[in-house]
Order: sequence, then C-alpha cells, then structure tokens
Amino acid sequence: MSKPFPSDEPFLRGYYAPLNAECDAPNLQVAGELPRELFGTLYRNGPNPQFAPRGPYHWFAGDGMLHAFHLENGRASYRNRWVRTPKWELEHAEGEGMSAAFGNPRLSDPRIVALRSTVANTNVVWHAGRLLALEEAHAPFEVDPETLAPKGYQTFDGQLAGPMTAHPKIDPVTGEMVFFSYAARGPFSADMMLHVADSEGRLLRSEHFMAPFASMVHDFVVTRSHIIFPIFPLTGSMERAMKGLPPYAWEPDRGTHIGIMPRGGSVAELRWFTGDPCYVFHPMNAFDDADGSVVCDMVKYDVAPLFPRPDGSPTGARSPDAKLVRWRFDLAGDSNGFRETPLDDRPAEFPRLDERRSMLPYRHGYLNSTPGLATARAEGQRWGLSHIDLHGGDVVSWQPEAGDACGEPVFVPRSAGAAEGDGWLLSVIWRGAENRSDLAVFDATDLAAGPVALAHLSHRVPAGFHGNWRDGGTLAFG
Ligand SMILES: [Fe+2]
Repeated sequence: MSKPFPSDEPFLRGYYAPLNAECDAPNLQVAGELPRELFGTLYRNGPNPQFAPRGPYHWFAGDGMLHAFHLENGRASYRNRWVRTPKWELEHAEGEGMSAAFGNPRLSDPRIVALRSTVANTNVVWHAGRLLALEEAHAPFEVDPETLAPKGYQTFDGQLAGPMTAHPKIDPVTGEMVFFSYAARGPFSADMMLHVADSEGRLLRSEHFMAPFASMVHDFVVTRSHIIFPIFPLTGSMERAMKGLPPYAWEPDRGTHIGIMPRGGSVAELRWFTGDPCYVFHPMNAFDDADGSVVCDMVKYDVAPLFPRPDGSPTGARSPDAKLVRWRFDLAGDSNGFRETPLDDRPAEFPRLDERRSMLPYRHGYLNSTPGLATARAEGQRWGLSHIDLHGGDVVSWQPEAGDACGEPVFVPRSAGAAEGDGWLLSVIWRGAENRSDLAVFDATDLAAGPVALAHLSHRVPAGFHGNWRDGGTLAFG
C-alpha cells in the first residue's frame, strides 16, 4: 500500500513536496509578451518521489520528473511526466515504495537492488538527437522529446558499462560531448572513467583512472585544451552504508584534489593540484587563459551542504552557503597549489552561461542568488537571479516576492549569430503564497527590469535541479 510521506522531512514539504499527477496543458495563460524569437522547449528535471521511501529520504534520491515548456509563436504549452525508469515501473506495479535513498541495500527490497535502476532525476540534456534524463550513479535514460515516454537506457551501443555524470559538457565548436563516471567499477569505488562521444552520439574514447579516494563527484569542467576533475572530501563508503551510517559524508581532512589533463592527451597525464577542503556542486565554466593557465569559475561551499559527518552528526547548525570564486591553475609552474579570487559575495547556486562560450573565455554568467545572507534569512526562502559581467565584475540581480523562489536560469540566445549574452533567460519560479509556478522569461541584457513574460501553471513545479533548452521541436498534443 502507498504510505503517506513522512511529515517531518523538510525535502518532502512546501516547495519540495512531490506532485502526484501528470498533465498536458496545450495552452498556458501568458502575462506579457513571449518573444517570437523563442521557438523551442525548456526541459527541467528534479526529484519527485512516487512513493514514500524506506528509511530516511534524501532530496537527491527521489524519482525524476520532467517538466517541459514549449514556446512557439508567442504561445506556451506544458507537459510533465515521471521518468519511467525500471525502479519507477516496479514500484508503480507494486503500488508502494520499495527503495531506500541511493538504493541502500540494507533497507531496499532485493528486487529493487537487483534492478540497479537509475532514478534519472538530475539533469536533462539534448545531444545528437536524443533527450537524456541523467543521474550520476547510472547510465543515461532516454525519453521521447515530444511525449516524454521512456525509450530506455542509452549505453552508446553497449559501450558504456557504468554510470555517467549528470553534467556532461558539450563542446560548442565540435558538438562533442565530454563526460565521466565516478564509482565506475562498483558503488563507492574510487574508479573513474573519462568518456567522449562525437556530435553524432558515437562513443569515441573511454579511459579508466583512479581518484585519490571515493567521493561524490557531481560535476567537472572542460576547456578547449584541458579536462579538469575536481575531487572533494565528500567521501563515499559502502562500509558505512552497510553499518547504517551515512553512505556519503564530509571528511575535510581528506582535502581537495583537482586533476587536470590535456584534452588531446590521456589520463596518464593527469596532474593533481591540492587545496583546502571545500565542496563544489557546480562550476560555471572554465577556459584556457592567454598566459597558459587554466581558469575555473566555481560556486564553492567551505563545507559540503546536505550531507553529515561520517558518524551521522550534522556539519553545522545551518546549511552552508556557496559563493562564486575563480580558481587559476598555473600549468607552467611547478606548484601543486592553485590561486582563488572571489567573484561575488552573494550566496549563490546553479551557475550557467551562454553555452556558446562553454569551454572558452567568456563574459556573462547567470546564477540563482539571494540578496544577501541576513536579508535572505530574515525573509525566509527567497532565491532570485543574478547576471555577472565577468569583465569588470558588475552584478545585476532580480528578486521575486518574498517567499518565492527562482529555479536554475537557462540562457537562450536571441539568434544563432547574436553576441554573447544577447538573448533570454528562462527560470521556473515558485510562487510561495499561491503554491504554484510560473515559467518566467527575462531579457538577459536587462535582468533588473523583471520578466518580459510569465507562463502560468496552476500547480507547483517542485524544487528541482537542472534543465536545458532544445531549439525547435514540439510537444505532441493529441
Ligand atoms: Fe547538478
């Protein structure tokens, strides 16, 4: 039987509470004018558990649900669907939750453990004519871009044996997709893999290497000439998991290790730089600077959020904040350290850019941000949007009403040939007081002016993770 969700779990309440329904909405009400240039679909993914979990819930462990907003000729349509993964299908058939967070084998039904299923809840990426729902512990799960119906795992003709990061990097010049796997040869192993697929989705190369220790490697960065693997001390341990202790935990004594290799070389050329303990879920971008150094712009936490110490105790009285910093690695020097400079002092997350400048020197970055620590705390949940001009450092912000929250900003260029940063910024905003969401469209060159158009949903898009824009296409409505 389907049990109620635990009432004391903050990541199952309010903005985070899962939807229990799927819908098709061919004509959303629109306030303002949707730009006619916007023709395509914004896909957004996030955790939306179908059933109450066994044991404690973790926000990262809920079943993925896709939200698709299609914009064309000034009109907006919408469809949401759970990603029908093997886990989702089995639990759906049984009518109850059978899985613990991260598939913890101590608490999960053996049939769930045997499935080794993705929850496909973290990102959704369009590459080589395929729409991939991604979650970092498993292979990508392909869905139909129009109906969001399942198409099964994408294993690159059986060549991808292990998991794939939810944050692949697509080269805007070549169309190549560079990605990696961690825990590549078994849960909580320090084995990693580098993979590259060409613009047609054919896997070109796969190379194995060992990280300094097993950890949660959520994201990485790539430049035109280098691949950068950041390893932070958010360690993974099967031994802890089997004892009922946290599978992932903050162990700052292990330090930060950044591996950099030439993109045209091999993993044997990885050079490891070390730094103070910290955690980065999301880099904004990285590039090769004219002086030969590698520059990485990172949204950095001093202490990993959302995870405890190895004994299960919290790392602090409140969840830590992250800020945008720039790391510079001097590849010509012989130091194994790196230099950090702050770029902005606002608490921030979900950094994005005009992805035509991905892997390249760039000027414009976009983030979710709060107006400042004290104000944000005083007003409760209130995540807005910021635009940072990295030439000079000016930041322009827009904040929604108190109690509202903006999701990850996604940039869409005004046209293929438009200058960097000339385009639209899309964000799904939760209206706290009304408990429903809007798709907001901003002019990315004038964020402070507020949205130029809002497409209204009558329900909430729960707090989620990442999304991407696909040019053109349609959502098929019968
Ligand atoms: Fe992420």
